[in-house]
Amino acid sequence: MVSGGLSPVPEHVAIIMDGNGRWAKERGLPRTMGHTKGVDAVRQVVRAAGGCGVRYLTLFAFSSENWSRPAAEVSDLMGLLRRFIRRDLAELHKANVRIRVIGDRENLRGDVLPLLLEAEETTRLNEGLTLIIAFNYGARDEIARAMRRLAQEAASGRLDPALITPDLIAENLDTAGIPDPDLIIRTSGEERLSNFLLWQAAYSEFVFLPDYWPDFTAETFAEALKLYSGRERRFGGLSPVKTAVAG
Ligand code: IPE
Ligand code: IPE
Ligand code: MG
Repeated sequence: MVSGGLSPVPEHVAIIMDGNGRWAKERGLPRTMGHTKGVDAVRQVVRAAGGCGVRYLTLFAFSSENWSRPAAEVSDLMGLLRRFIRRDLAELHKANVRIRVIGDRENLRGDVLPLLLEAEETTRLNEGLTLIIAFNYGARDEIARAMRRLAQEAASGRLDPALITPDLIAENLDTAGIPDPDLIIRTSGEERLSNFLLWQAAYSEFVFLPDYWPDFTAETFAEALKLYSGRERRFGGLSPVKTAVAG
């Protein structure tokens, strides 16, 4: 994340893929069609990110609040995730992509959890792009789970509360070992975080784009990176820190 004044490519890009439903509605199609088309956009952005030197790409696929949608839509979204992993895992593995999953793994029904674990296990040693899938993810839930773990350690006497620092908290989040996102993109014109990476976004740059997620292409991604490259990051200091350099 530190600058050398070289290529201003963010090390970690996180995307709130929003607008599938509205994309479908505008075309008189069922919402599911928007989600299906959204998977094609996922394929494009993974390729684009790997191709331009981004090291970590986080995609918000399903939030802990999305369970409140109609059962049929939830079930369609689960089906799409399953199909995506079944169809694309081999190719992602071949492309040296390492998959990580963040979010609560409890209460995932059927074969979703085993598939996610298989994706992580198969690609564990890959050294190309790290693709982080945020699934059943909510930042408040993530922070609460981390706090619970630290509280249990403290209560059992294994952890001195004086040693609880921001770094220790970060190490207990689902994103342990992953650098904070340099750039967070949200599509569809909405300008909010919706419980995404609240801790990790402390110094992220934000790019909000009007495009609905199914219309997102490699060009849209390049446009977001260009906006990012013009940003001055200060991290609380006085002198601007040039945007991140990959690798
Ligand atoms: C994003 O699109 C996909 C998920 C949240 C799973 P939406 O389904 O939220 O689409 P809109 O916001 O209703 O258009
Ligand atoms: C955020 O989008 C979740 C994902 C993109 C998976 P939502 O569509 O669920 O967010 P809100 O409800 O508009 O804030
Ligand atoms: Mg939405």
